[in-house]
Amino acid sequence: MNKKVYIESYGCQMNFSDSEIVASILAKDGYTAVEKAEDADLVLLNTCSIRDKAEQTVLNRIDSLRNLKGANKQLKVGVLGCMAERMREDLLVKKKLVDLVVGPDAYRTLPALLDEVEGGQKAVNVLLSREETYAEIEPVRLGSNGVTAFVTIMRGCDNMCAFCVVPFTRGRERSRDPYTIVEECRQLVAQGYKEVTLLGQNVDSYRWNVDSRGEVKDAALPVTDFADLLAMVAEIAPTLRVRYSTSHPKDMTDKVLEVMARYPNICKYIHLPVQSGSSAVLARMNRGYDRAWYLDRIAAIRRYMPDAAISTDLISGFCGETEEEHNETISLMTEVGYDMAYMFKYSERPKTLAARKYPDDVPDEVKGRRLAQIIDLQIKQAGERNQRHVGQVQEVLVEGVSKRSAEHMFGRNTHNAVVIVPSMFHGAELEAGDYVMARILSATGGSLKGEVVEVKKGRSAMADL
Ligand code: 5AD
Ligand code: SF4
Repeated sequence: MNKKVYIESYGCQMNFSDSEIVASILAKDGYTAVEKAEDADLVLLNTCSIRDKAEQTVLNRIDSLRNLKGANKQLKVGVLGCMAERMREDLLVKKKLVDLVVGPDAYRTLPALLDEVEGGQKAVNVLLSREETYAEIEPVRLGSNGVTAFVTIMRGCDNMCAFCVVPFTRGRERSRDPYTIVEECRQLVAQGYKEVTLLGQNVDSYRWNVDSRGEVKDAALPVTDFADLLAMVAEIAPTLRVRYSTSHPKDMTDKVLEVMARYPNICKYIHLPVQSGSSAVLARMNRGYDRAWYLDRIAAIRRYMPDAAISTDLISGFCGETEEEHNETISLMTEVGYDMAYMFKYSERPKTLAARKYPDDVPDEVKGRRLAQIIDLQIKQAGERNQRHVGQVQEVLVEGVSKRSAEHMFGRNTHNAVVIVPSMFHGAELEAGDYVMARILSATGGSLKGEVVEVKKGRSAMADL
């Protein structure tokens, strides 16, 4: 009964984290995770619907599995995640080689669905849930470096941004029991992990009411909010770095910033998606804040953590975006000075508020030109911002061997910038999981180059403070 599953993940970190939950559920059903589709009895694609391009990539990938299925008639193919939710039976009908379609809240039913598939039927479960958080499931870490791990703290999203498909594919927002989160992080520490990233679509609206472990939620009891949770995780061990994603500008509180500033092991990096610099566009996007509010949040971050790195998401060519509105995005970028940005052309998604209410009226070449302008500015600004690290001695958590050179290791500083250092220090090899102090010598493109001045084997230098 030793069956083999290959899981391929697309989209956000949440999806990669979900794949580890799926691997855990399937492990109990006799499946071992393998690293190549060719070796598997079951191939699962954990998919993303955020933009049309993401979906097209997966649809092409499904077609490319035809050869594998031809070579191995027993091979089963399943589609998980956001596309399963959005395209449902369409996938089963139009893509003949798909045997199984399972949405993000239905992974516990995978073993039963696979039984149906074994019996020669196609199987589907795309029910969304108000409660499912997979709270007690211990993920099987896939493709892990043994140093950094994702921990999901909440699921779904209630925000209804006009452009976004996520509320339709991942359902209502719900938070996970904080005690199970802390327990999962403790286990990771015991296994030698050095960094956790707490994941949620909108971490700032994390809420949990409990009196003690396992008790039912009760509205009358004190609330654990995201700031409390962050502190609980940071307290586990000073040698455990804590990151999180994603904040929402409308909900980000000073209390979270205060906790971040207080704990040296909470990384000084915030991903705060702005989407547009124009208040009129933000209103059409239904984001719940305007430009002034967003800039006030940036000022608050700088007040608590003057040196924190900030990244963002930007969309070019949203419905009705004028040249002036686009220029407001450019001026906001100049005003903030992002360390990093994820930049996209607007892609209309069926069912969303924008698809129902506004025409997708910015021509593709205009979206493209505006995006190129945004990207050019970001590259220039990131290059300049990266220079501020040069000359500093920074704590770097080593994650593995550099992709470009076997004589170098790569890691990250607290600001989430990649730092490349020589792998030998005083005749000894660095290892993944080492904390080192590195003097930053230069900043090139997306990464920093440094020289190691001290190795703190597995100990956070910050723990000495
Ligand atoms: N078109 C383009 N970009 C989108 N995003 C979300 N929905 C869309 C869409 N329909 C971007 C947003 C979000 C990030 C995860 O993806 O910037 O923050
Ligand atoms: Fe893609 Fe959004 Fe689903 Fe993540 S939640 S997989 S980004 S559609």
